[in-house]
Amino acid sequence: MVKICCIGAGYVGGPTMAVIALKCPAVEVVVVDISVARINAWNSDQLPIYEPGLDDVVRQCRGKNLFFSTDVEKHVFEADIIFVSVNTPTKTSGLGAGKAADLTYWESAARMIADVSKSDKIVVEKSTVPVKTAEAIEKILTHNSKGINYQILSNPEFLAEGTAIQDLFNPDRVLIGGRKTPEGQKAVQALKAVYTQWVPEDRVITTNLWSAELTKLAANAILAKRISSINSISALCEATGANITEVAYSVGKDSRIGPKFLNASVGFGGSCFQKDILNLVYICECYGFLEAANYWKTVIKINDYQKSRFVNRVVASMFNTLSGKKIAVLGFAFKKDTGDTRETPAIDVCKGLLADKASISIYDPQVTEDQIQRDLTMNKFDWDHPIHLQPMSPTTVKKVSVTWDAYEATKGAHGICILTEWDEFKGLDYQKIYDNMQKPAFLFDGRNVVDVEKLREIGFVVYSIGKPLDTWLGVMPAVV
Ligand SMILES: *[C@@H]1O[C@H](CO)[C@@H](O)[C@H](O)[C@H]1NC(C)=O
Ligand SMILES: *[C@@H]1O[C@H](CO)[C@@H](O)[C@H](O)[C@H]1NC(C)=O
Repeated sequence: MVKICCIGAGYVGGPTMAVIALKCPAVEVVVVDISVARINAWNSDQLPIYEPGLDDVVRQCRGKNLFFSTDVEKHVFEADIIFVSVNTPTKTSGLGAGKAADLTYWESAARMIADVSKSDKIVVEKSTVPVKTAEAIEKILTHNSKGINYQILSNPEFLAEGTAIQDLFNPDRVLIGGRKTPEGQKAVQALKAVYTQWVPEDRVITTNLWSAELTKLAANAILAKRISSINSISALCEATGANITEVAYSVGKDSRIGPKFLNASVGFGGSCFQKDILNLVYICECYGFLEAANYWKTVIKINDYQKSRFVNRVVASMFNTLSGKKIAVLGFAFKKDTGDTRETPAIDVCKGLLADKASISIYDPQVTEDQIQRDLTMNKFDWDHPIHLQPMSPTTVKKVSVTWDAYEATKGAHGICILTEWDEFKGLDYQKIYDNMQKPAFLFDGRNVVDVEKLREIGFVVYSIGKPLDTWLGVMPAVV
């Protein structure tokens, strides 16, 4: 029986290992983490992350061939294959601060593996890491090897949050990078044998280590760039009367471009896009490719621009002041069907609204009040280091309320901002919402989820990203 141990029970490690356990009944999978609270949650009915279909998969395998444990060393010692899926946040200080990946957790995982191992191991990089990390990890392991043979593989995960289980069941491709030596290729085949239990063989790509590491960064950078590209066009649409939905649809009909990932929005978020681009920028700079570094930086600049453009639109439309006004924020997660708020555009938008002295009332079907307060009081990047959490400022607390219902959030509000594309926001009773709001009632749709015409008929002043402007908004001062 092959034994797999995964270090790190987060958004990648948890779902990936659950699916491996489900699809490979002959493999024993143990997910380990030093956080007792997180492991307890994985062992309970209230899993620590929300992901459609995940509960089902965990329920089917937990206690059979899927286990969650805090006994990290015991399970590393027993495993044949060790996945390392720990946080690789952006460094907040020192060399490469704000850009380079912080490999502290990775390095300590490698040292621990070297300490406890007594048999040969395949060590798999699952978290996104900078190119050439495998080489560094290999050095740590082999310098302490005591005659043990370690093979390092890179197996980046391409799942998207919100559709993780479907993506894992039916991946576009599985990528495995390894050394070209006979031992390296043997390790590649061992991992490939796990995936081909359910993934067609022709979807498993094997490459050298650095190609696999770089592919993950490149894929995320190119995906994020598609969003920034369409978002940069959305500003032009508003100014000229073009409709971004029509433009994106027609552009996407070109088979060389394709229809996916062309939705204009208030901006992209999530733990990966920005981090991976910054990483790519850093690596380009390290090798002296400044033009390439600057090229990728613009993807983040457009994303920041889109968020501030949205806030400016809200403020300018509402007579240039939000002081004493209530703004309802619908949606806080970085995308629908997840409770993940890392790098969500809602953080920057809410901070912008608060800076203009608005009171905000937030509703998201999956994000807790605690999480929202924490996100709004932390500085950028701090979410990765809860230890450095700063005390909440009392004035922020007073101006932010969190409700568990969209109708409660919008009651008495002067304006609404939709910041996540949750399906339920499409089906709300907007007449009822309108009746309970201050007039004129403003709605700013940052995800293009509402029917603009219908809402205008009800009486709302509606702004929707990249759509022809409401005549009301047209007479307000131009927004840059
Ligand atoms: C934008 O175009 C889409 C697709 O043609 C259409 O359904 C929508 O009503 C348009 N929106 C506006 C505000 O014109
Ligand atoms: C993105 O656009 C596509 C194509 O227009 C549409 O089918 C899809 O529902 C949109 N996704 C979101 C999240 O709005």
